[in-house]
Amino acid sequence: MNSSQVKIKSVAIIGAGPSAAAALKAENYFDQIRVFERRETAGGTWIHDPDPGPAAPIEPGKLPSEIDVHLDIPSNLPATTLPDRTNRWATTPVYDSLSTNIPNIVMTFSDALLPYGPFAPHYVARQYVESYFALHQTDTLLQTNTAVEDVARSPIRKLNEQGEWKLTLRKYDAARQVDEWWEEFFDAVILANGHYAVPYVPKVIGLEQYMETYPGRVSHSKRYRSPKLYAGQRVLIIGNSVSGRELSEELVGVARDSVLVSRRSPAFWEGDEPPPGIEWKPVVSEYKQDGTILFADGSTLTGIDAVIYCTGYKPSFPFWNEEANGGPLFDYRSNRLVGSYQHVFFRDFPTLGAVGFPRTLTFRSFEYQAIALSRLWSGRNARPLPSPQRQQQWEAERAERTQAQRKYFHDVPWGAETNDYLRELFNFAGLSTLAGDGLLPPPLTRKMVWEYEHVLKWKLPEGKGPHGGNDGLEEDTKMQFRLGSPAADTTLKAQQVHVEEGKGWVVVGKDEGTPVDAA
Ligand SMILES: Cc1cc2nc3c(=O)[nH]c(=O)nc-3n(C[C@H](O)[C@H](O)[C@H](O)COP(=O)(O)OP(=O)(O)OC[C@H]3O[C@@H](n4cnc5c(N)ncnc54)[C@H](O)[C@@H]3O)c2cc1C
Ligand SMILES: NC(=O)c1ccc[n+]([C@@H]2O[C@H](COP(=O)([O-])OP(=O)(O)OC[C@H]3O[C@@H](n4cnc5c(N)ncnc54)[C@H](OP(=O)(O)O)[C@@H]3O)[C@@H](O)[C@H]2O)c1
Repeated sequence: MNSSQVKIKSVAIIGAGPSAAAALKAENYFDQIRVFERRETAGGTWIHDPDPGPAAPIEPGKLPSEIDVHLDIPSNLPATTLPDRTNRWATTPVYDSLSTNIPNIVMTFSDALLPYGPFAPHYVARQYVESYFALHQTDTLLQTNTAVEDVARSPIRKLNEQGEWKLTLRKYDAARQVDEWWEEFFDAVILANGHYAVPYVPKVIGLEQYMETYPGRVSHSKRYRSPKLYAGQRVLIIGNSVSGRELSEELVGVARDSVLVSRRSPAFWEGDEPPPGIEWKPVVSEYKQDGTILFADGSTLTGIDAVIYCTGYKPSFPFWNEEANGGPLFDYRSNRLVGSYQHVFFRDFPTLGAVGFPRTLTFRSFEYQAIALSRLWSGRNARPLPSPQRQQQWEAERAERTQAQRKYFHDVPWGAETNDYLRELFNFAGLSTLAGDGLLPPPLTRKMVWEYEHVLKWKLPEGKGPHGGNDGLEEDTKMQFRLGSPAADTTLKAQQVHVEEGKGWVVVGKDEGTPVDAA
């Protein structure tokens, strides 16, 4: 029996999460599975919008709860209204030249390889996500152009009556240029709405006035599409994670002088000196109205034509009805989901799940998460969920540890922690039925692990390891150490040669026993 002790027969998925739909369908247990996607197709982050749309005002320090708000819902549903034009941040940050940054063998669901790699252009990833629905014949479950605008739990759920969760849905009818609103009820809900939609810009003294004085000068990487816009300009990039790195590199040689990069903390791939064409600056402490930018070390810059904030995104759940559900779903002070367990389950909501939340092996980890939820709700999980007290303990211990380490609660670092995390979900889900109902959680093969650790998009400075370890090639951070020696593999050999033929990426650690050489 599943955890709510009530049969779960209908499940809604918010966002076109292909793994969730595939896992639920394969369980061959649920009567109704619906996938609601506000965009015109599946693909999520990977849908490239060549036009980023009208520039929404940048509101420094503001959180999604302030800039991605719950809409007013018509009082009598179903209803037809004029289209709501509130900015939902639905376009994606994918820029023209973006390619994937982890090898395709990892950034892939286990039953369909991303067609080529190791790193593919953004449109390949989009096609992959779209076609994954067709592969599993879950495309018929997908309702596009439909935003979930409200999710409310009914206070009392009666057996065999309408589901526990009421979803309020809004679909733009392009032919009539109206919004159609209606409600649907489900026994369970999966949040697969991603968390790279609502950009974050930190509050800085003088920034708001600076933007008024110099309209159009400040932007966020979400709107960046191509370096052309910045030809001959003096550009300051804020933030040095992946967006900061990729944009600054792309602008070298296009922008005027060195590209300036303001860093709060060094990235794991950085050496002691900036790459050619880039100059490092500390955090901005103030924007002056004469155009001067002041930094934390007291240095100043003038003559800046463009400031691009590459300061990431905040998760947003504007549809979460706090009143009906007894409080918020996300705590922005601690940057974490409220009451989550293993980043997938919710202690207070056994019929709510999340797929795609922790920062770990993207697509591959989504698969484990989706299978775990499908098993739980079909009552076929191999192990029970821990008691609510144990789940709370997990959350409290993790919060304390990650806070002490100055890490994010939902970041699952590569190495021992990823291994333990996926193992936990793997063991929880267990096998499919004897008749073959349900997907099997996939193995984390030695080949995958080896490629993730050795096939890198960027060359690292001497002594730096991939994916954030002190040195990813150290035994204790290295996943392959925990799995045993890598097996011989000729496919990889072929790929390795291809990789080395100068496509711009690198293979590291060949001397220390690659899958090719190991017995
Ligand atoms: C610039 C950038 C580059 C990246 N590069 C890589 C990479 O190289 N490799 C990698 O593995 N990962 C990368 N990622 C992470 C990327 O987000 C994941 O690969 C993957 O797309 C996450 O899938 P998801 O389904 O969880 O979320 P998303 O892809 O964000 O999809 C969520 C979907 O939910 C929909 N949605 C949201 N709210 C609602 C609502 N209320 N109603 C209906 N639909 C809704 C959205 O429209 C969207 O289609 C990158 C992210 C960014 C921002
Ligand atoms: N496929 C690709 O090539 C590609 C390209 C772009 C992005 N991505 C993906 O997109 C996702 C988002 O990446 P992202 O780089 O946009 O965001 P991100 O990884 O969240 O990084 C945010 C950056 O902003 C900095 N920052 C945050 N608040 C700041 C403040 N108040 N002052 C100064 N700096 C501040 C952070 O510094 P700290 O480090 O000090 O916190 C960090 O460097 C990631 O998953 C990434 O892998 C992929």
